[in-house]
Amino acid sequence: MAQPKTSWRIEPVGPLRGDVTVKGSKNAVSKHMVAALLGSTPSTVRNCPDIGEVPITAGMLRSLGAFVDVEGDTVRVDATRLTQADVPTQFSGLNRIPILMVGPLLHRMGEAFVPIVGGDQIGRRPLDYHVACLRAMGAEITMREDGLEAKASSLHGARLRLPFPSVGATETVLLTAVLAEGRTVLENAATEPEVIELALFLQRMGARIELRPDRRFIIEGGVGLIGAEHALAGDRIEAFSYLVAGLITGGRVRVFGCPQGRLVTAISTLHRMGARFEITDDYLVAEAAKGLGPSVVMTDTHPGFMTDWQSPLVVLFTQADGMSVVHETVFENRFTYVGALKAMGAEIELFDACLGGRDCRFHEMNERHSAVVHGPTKLRGAEITVPDIRGGFAYLIGAAAAEGETVLHDIHHIERGFHKAFDSLTDLGLKVERL
Ligand code: UD1
Repeated sequence: MAQPKTSWRIEPVGPLRGDVTVKGSKNAVSKHMVAALLGSTPSTVRNCPDIGEVPITAGMLRSLGAFVDVEGDTVRVDATRLTQADVPTQFSGLNRIPILMVGPLLHRMGEAFVPIVGGDQIGRRPLDYHVACLRAMGAEITMREDGLEAKASSLHGARLRLPFPSVGATETVLLTAVLAEGRTVLENAATEPEVIELALFLQRMGARIELRPDRRFIIEGGVGLIGAEHALAGDRIEAFSYLVAGLITGGRVRVFGCPQGRLVTAISTLHRMGARFEITDDYLVAEAAKGLGPSVVMTDTHPGFMTDWQSPLVVLFTQADGMSVVHETVFENRFTYVGALKAMGAEIELFDACLGGRDCRFHEMNERHSAVVHGPTKLRGAEITVPDIRGGFAYLIGAAAAEGETVLHDIHHIERGFHKAFDSLTDLGLKVERL
């Protein structure tokens, strides 16, 4: 499915000031829509963001025969009658959602085909954990050139341990184990807020899920599920990105809609750099009256510093006074956006060594997964093709702090993950023009 090619011209205007409201998170909305496949009655998800991810996932569900109604910020999924077990290949390469449909489709249809998953090109992003878990629960899986084929007359619980706490693989296990016969124990699971939110939604649907303090989920499967309703909690990636947009321009952006608890490490990191916060039940706002200092940060699984916060942070580091270090430990290839930032004038060097924090899984690989950033440097506007969601928003933030105008191509990447970014940035005073 081809994505529309749009470009934006951005003219920096100085400090960004004003209010932004973030909606439910991109990384939760589509998973809740997939969970709806498991209910014998319709499910309703509220506070959904207006992002490309929603129509893409709705399209996949409709192709299976489900009824999906998107009205305002409410998505209603009625999957009581499915007619197809195959997600068409036209959905290949758009996001990471099809693999999550395998377990639910096996329960519903006894078979499934899903196209090769997409998502941002930020690392190898293999599916081996998903496949191993599905096989351990009784699925027969064949990898085809265009996707993954699965069959199972019935699925059963299993004792599983993830080599790394993968968000997607944990979600695959949750979405499969809740209807599998017997008990599933998943060790070394991801406990990101969006994963917990999905587990709570499944619990609302009637699933028996327990989370132990040592990253262990215990799921008693085989209990029939009904539809549920839920209002999504605010997107912590968007919230952080807007806080940074305020700080980097010397402005003040109040972010509404994201609970403080989802941003603990983001707040403490910005605190260490010298930002001052005002936090209420309704909003968060950060300011840096005296400029910001450098820092050393390692990305990690929750509650560590989130990998999706890394690119806005690196752009902020280009304006901090001193040398900063970032060690990316979740995706081995999440610095591809740096080349264009350097072309804008940033001084960033990449290393394959683990700089800052402990050695990570990538310490003997050739991948350049650590960055040293020197600041402050003057950024100049540039013409850039956006590679992915997070890199894309980093360029937007860089463009807001640069001298001269920037033109960004392939904006659909940003629109897949950021709720009404154009309107929000315009409200904050940035001059953005659609080309
Ligand atoms: C999700 C989020 C993404 C976030 C990431 C980590 C969505 C749609 N995307 O991505 O924004 O950055 O979590 O918080 O929710 N891995 C394997 N084999 C597998 C699965 C994963 O080796 O089968 C590895 C990956 O290559 C990566 C690490 O595990 O190095 C973490 O990936 P994972 O947590 O699965 O990320 P996603 O679920 O794809």
